[in-house]
Amino acid sequence: MRIVLLGAPGAGKGTQCKNIVVEYGLGHLSSGDILRRNRSDGTELGKKAQSYMDAGDLVPDEIIIEMMSEAVEQASAAGFILDGFPRTVTQAVELDKSLADDGAIDAVLNLKIDESVVEARMTGRRSCPKCGAVYHVENLKPQSEGLCDHDGAELVQRPDDTPEVVANRLETYHRQTEPLVDYYRKNGVVFDIKADRDPDEVKACVFEKLQTLVKQ
Ligand code: AP5
Repeated sequence: MRIVLLGAPGAGKGTQCKNIVVEYGLGHLSSGDILRRNRSDGTELGKKAQSYMDAGDLVPDEIIIEMMSEAVEQASAAGFILDGFPRTVTQAVELDKSLADDGAIDAVLNLKIDESVVEARMTGRRSCPKCGAVYHVENLKPQSEGLCDHDGAELVQRPDDTPEVVANRLETYHRQTEPLVDYYRKNGVVFDIKADRDPDEVKACVFEKLQTLVKQ
């Protein structure tokens, strides 16, 4: 199965991906996580991406397309879920070209949220720098405050989760990423999911949609 997850910053893409990966055994290809790993490893790619990410702007298409083409190729045989890529129509066109010989995207899960919940989700988010697990200080607390349930690492706050940067990320989402929903709708593969409700309810809805695909 090849799935694309769309949604505004804080819609819960990373949170739901973790569930899908466990249930369906797909590769989780998160462009944001790959970029953050490159930054912490101090690679050339990480250095190029840094200023865009810190400002809440998109990293240029050519950098992202090269980075993700490699990841998609490696994960192609087992199936994958794309989280944060594509994020522009140019990226989606390039992804389609790279998949042309190998089948298309099976489903696009479009996580929809009311923007009034975004800031609280982002400023309360805490992540594990070791395994990438995502928590929230109110909605999804770790068992021991400030520590990852999986490996005990100290949880951190992302530098782009400040109110100012979140506002720009939202604006960038509307301008550059939202047009992708129509791009994919033409292929009839978009499932809209109401994502501003309890994470388990969102998970149940996501699984219900995916089960219909598995049965086809
Ligand atoms: P990226 O890391 O992809 O950030 P994003 O799309 O803004 O999405 P987030 O990871 O912030 O949110 P999410 O939807 O995954 O929410 P989460 O599950 O964590 O990208 C970062 C930057 O990298 C970009 O700004 C850009 O610069 C660059 N970049 C990445 N990809 C790019 C590309 N393709 N092209 C160009 N540039 C690119 O949940 C958020 C919080 O809410 C958590 O605390 C969670 O616990 C909580 N939560 C989740 N679900 C619920 C729920 N149902 N109810 C209550 N709380 C919930």
